[in-house]
Amino acid sequence: MIIGVPREIKDGEHRVALTPAGVRAFRDRGHRVLVETEAGSGSKISDSDYRKAGARIVSKADDLWAAADMVMKVKEPLPAEYHRLREDLILFTYLHLASSRKLTRALLDSGVAALGYETVQTDDGALPLLVPMSEIAGKLSIQMGAHLLEVQQGGRGTLLGGVPGVPPAEVVILGCGVVGGNAAKVAAGMGAHVTVLDINHNRLKYLDDVMGENVVTVYANPYTIERAASYADLFVGAVLVPGARAPKLLTRKMVRRMRPGAVVVDVAVDQGGCIETIHPTSFSEPTYLVGHVLHFAVPNIPAAVPRTATHALTNATLPWALEIADKGLREAVSGNPALARGLNVAGGHVVHPGVAATFHMKPSSLDQLQLPE
Ligand SMILES: NC(=O)c1ccc[n+]([C@@H]2O[C@H](COP(=O)([O-])OP(=O)(O)OC[C@H]3O[C@@H](n4cnc5c(N)ncnc54)[C@H](O)[C@@H]3O)[C@@H](O)[C@H]2O)c1
Repeated sequence: MIIGVPREIKDGEHRVALTPAGVRAFRDRGHRVLVETEAGSGSKISDSDYRKAGARIVSKADDLWAAADMVMKVKEPLPAEYHRLREDLILFTYLHLASSRKLTRALLDSGVAALGYETVQTDDGALPLLVPMSEIAGKLSIQMGAHLLEVQQGGRGTLLGGVPGVPPAEVVILGCGVVGGNAAKVAAGMGAHVTVLDINHNRLKYLDDVMGENVVTVYANPYTIERAASYADLFVGAVLVPGARAPKLLTRKMVRRMRPGAVVVDVAVDQGGCIETIHPTSFSEPTYLVGHVLHFAVPNIPAAVPRTATHALTNATLPWALEIADKGLREAVSGNPALARGLNVAGGHVVHPGVAATFHMKPSSLDQLQLPE
């Protein structure tokens, strides 16, 4: 198979979908890899590093997409890339389709077979290709939130860990899966007082067992969310219903009642966000105010640490991408239900039930579809 790795064009995006180690792995199994020139520069990986690992460097994105059987990306295709999608192409990337009808339409119109990293799901419900980016985004949500709490950034002017004689900041984390758990770990480590809310009892029990005394667990419902928001200095949204739009759990009314200068960081914005007042921002203009509450809603937070994120991403995606390349898409998804759950659209049909439900469409089953080999 020919694997294409384009340069990412989303604002502030410095990650790349494959490291030289990934190139070597494809080559060792008889596949060819094309990498767009400078694709790795944001992650401090040079064209020469890729060449040494066996990749061919391609100067034009159009040529790379046209030659590839499978394109591996980091972020979803942007409108400037839509014309490169085609029926006999496999696209393997983060998609987060539930948050964009326009992108879903573009993928359907092109007929491309698109697998979303974030919906590859093992039988126990785990999302192995979302995990590494969620770990990074969770940790960064606190690092960035702490910075935004500084008064020059528009925040309340509260130090997360406090000092002797002055209490620490109140950090509230809604949804304590991978993002929320990592956020809790960092916030607790910085000395904040942390409240984590979730509806999964096992998860609350786990965090209660492993976290220190400055982390309290609370079952999430509208009453407890409103109460926690009312005392939060930093509120992190990290709820996920896989494949679907995030439910709006922190309402506009609750935001209005938050403390002046409080900061909300909605990590779940890539799935539409779990805060009613949220809309996506970018690293060029990451924040905006709603009343007196500072909002941060960058959908590609790990792009801030591309060295860590690029390597973590390839570590996670490579075994799945190799399986597709070795077996072809049809055989790979037929033999691996976890990978099959990653398929969002193919041949102009929506396959993923969560995406279909979001747009009131009927999901097609795999055996009804023509898939690229
Ligand atoms: N912005 C970014 O750069 C970025 C990066 C990585 C992940 N994310 C996003 O962060 C979100 C969370 O990802 P994750 O990996 O932590 O998911 P996860 O599945 O590990 O955790 C989600 C948690 O939300 C909880 N939840 C679901 N419904 C809830 C409700 N009604 N009330 C309270 N909790 C509820 C679940 O029980 C679960 O514990 C996703 O949308 C993911 O795509 C964003």
